[in-house]
Amino acid sequence: MKMLMAANWKMFKTREEAADCARGIENRLAGLPADREAVLFAPFTALAACAGALGPGARLRLGGQNCYPAAEGAFTGEISPGMLLDCACSHVLVGHSERRALLGESDAFVGKKCAFALNAGLNATLCIGETLKERDGGMLRPVLERQLAEGLSEVPDDVTSERLCIAYEPVWAIGTGRVAGTAEILEAHALVRAFLRKRFTARGNAMRILYGGSVKPDNAEQIINLDNVDGVLVGGASLQAETFARIALAGVSD
Ligand code: PGA
Repeated sequence: MKMLMAANWKMFKTREEAADCARGIENRLAGLPADREAVLFAPFTALAACAGALGPGARLRLGGQNCYPAAEGAFTGEISPGMLLDCACSHVLVGHSERRALLGESDAFVGKKCAFALNAGLNATLCIGETLKERDGGMLRPVLERQLAEGLSEVPDDVTSERLCIAYEPVWAIGTGRVAGTAEILEAHALVRAFLRKRFTARGNAMRILYGGSVKPDNAEQIINLDNVDGVLVGGASLQAETFARIALAGVSD
């Protein structure tokens, strides 16, 4: 299984800034080992500029931060998986906690997106994670299991392991500078792995589980070396090419 090192730019960067930064990351990824992949989840408005800056054959793949579960139609403000494919995307994020919290996305709606995106030909990364209140209330397991059950409910049983990733992002660690501790990451990732094995049998062993939440160059290596951590999803620290490249190359000796 290849490790997946992913950048999530959220609502940052003009087209020009995005093209410059995407190029900067790509230039620094020459030494990315063959057993790692890198993906950039850029704002919709910057995808075409990033695709142009990267060109065909780039190591850095492109993804959308969201999609709507329909091929086309009267869905003002939304973007279809086909539109993402048309902008050279191979990946999409679904169910990011900011969308769940700020835009009211339900587990069921996230589940529709996940299945629709996969069926349309995109690789999907389903984001899950508990709030501090849920964790403190002993709800880690039920919350993650509910998000997984509903988020994956319509995903075909035979989806190949490379096409579906889970990103575990504890809400209290996102953008806060408070990275989850080793024991907390191990516990949550083991729980996700057990769920994937049950849901997808042997293929669930080979699906990637990313950690996200205040990943930085100085903690990335330690995080990716943990059991059941198969990559990272990086927000704030992905906005500078140098910083994200250091994370993508964490632990690779030069
Ligand atoms: P952060 O964001 O790295 O800024 O904590 C992670 C994410 O939201 O994907």
